Amino acid sequence: MQLAFILGRTPELAKKEIEAAATILPFQWSATIVQPDVLTLKSDSRDLSDVFHENDLLSPQFSQLREKIMNLQKRLGGTIKIVYIIKQVEKDKLSIDLQELIRPYKTYGITVHGDGIDPVRLGLQLKRQSSGSRRFLAPKEGRKMSSAQVIRYRLALFGDRPAGGEVVVICQPAGYLIGVTLTVQDIDAYAKRDFHIPVPDPRSGMLTPKVAQAMLNLAVGNSAPAVYDPFCGSGRVVEEALLMGLPAFGSDIAVGKVEAARKNLNWIAAEYGLSLAAVPERLIWQQDASVLPKTELPRPFVIVTEPYLGSPLRQPLTDPEATAWQAELEKLYFAFFKMWMTVRVDRQPRKWVMVFPAVKCRDGRFQSLYRAMVDRLDEMGYSSLQVSDYGRPSSLVKREIVVLTRRDLQ
Ligand SMILES: C[S@@+](CC[C@H](N)C(=O)[O-])C[C@H]1O[C@@H](n2cnc3c(N)ncnc32)[C@H](O)[C@@H]1O
Repeated sequence: MQLAFILGRTPELAKKEIEAAATILPFQWSATIVQPDVLTLKSDSRDLSDVFHENDLLSPQFSQLREKIMNLQKRLGGTIKIVYIIKQVEKDKLSIDLQELIRPYKTYGITVHGDGIDPVRLGLQLKRQSSGSRRFLAPKEGRKMSSAQVIRYRLALFGDRPAGGEVVVICQPAGYLIGVTLTVQDIDAYAKRDFHIPVPDPRSGMLTPKVAQAMLNLAVGNSAPAVYDPFCGSGRVVEEALLMGLPAFGSDIAVGKVEAARKNLNWIAAEYGLSLAAVPERLIWQQDASVLPKTELPRPFVIVTEPYLGSPLRQPLTDPEATAWQAELEKLYFAFFKMWMTVRVDRQPRKWVMVFPAVKCRDGRFQSLYRAMVDRLDEMGYSSLQVSDYGRPSSLVKREIVVLTRRDLQ
């Protein structure tokens, strides 16, 4: 059994969250990047290694596997589609194998990852060669069908009332991997959470639901700890954690943010029919993150947070401005980490997944808060790993995502 995960705009982060979250799959796997935007997970066990027809995946025997794959798609912010790889084919056999593959579909689309094949030419050639009438849908742009196309034409096998199939060809040095799309990201659900929440925060910039999900996956893996965001702002991390079915809490120093997060939480709960473990007033409260949480948190818990990133910038910083920016933030971040060292080991978070900012300077370089802090964090007993960074090429602030653990907890 082999699945391909089609990665979105932050492939490095997407890959790491898949490796953390795909531990929910009922088999052991090995991960390989086969194209810059494609990660495959191949089952290590022999009983799932045989090729079986993709429609078998719809049978009751595979209901558990199906549910897990659908669940993964819902919670993986960085994965656009999950594809079932049917086989690896040699270069000159591609058209014969694809002919076989499209046979069950009255409507089919073709997506190609990698160079050397034009999906439109291939799709039309298959249509000419096939018996019976079929509708071929070409990618709207480039070589890949968009999520919107796959949803609109109901081409995902595990989607609602599938009406066709999306055939995926992944170019390899020695041939091609071919498969069909099982699931696709629910773009409307993300847009709704991103743009229609009652109190958005364009000024200090809310995390997108997809990045919040990725950070949660890194923190949680296949366990189900509680989640605490001590710089919760408008509450994105808390909302996404609750949607993943995790107990979640947040606090913020600003009363206005606490109110915004509570309103957003009420809206999410109503829209998604969530029954909250407590009223939002008890899940989100006001406090400074450099003092102990006022509320006793369930154990175990993890911290997932995007702390204060500094005042919004209008232009790159001069060297003295960058030094002042770093000094201000180091004070806040170190106070936060020092506070957790005063807590009994069994009451500490299991993990911290945090955003550290890096700001653009006049000479074009980015000054990274994490790089400035990493050695001292290490001396304080925190092991840390920068997983990825993200930000548009024009951004003045990049976000570096870092996973930290305490050595005395390992
Ligand atoms: C970048 S925003 C977090 C945005 C949040 N991730 C979201 O998606 O809405 C940082 C937050 O940290 C809060 N903050 C700043 N200093 C703080 C402190 N000492 N203790 C707690 N919160 C603080 C700010 O009020 C702000 O809401």
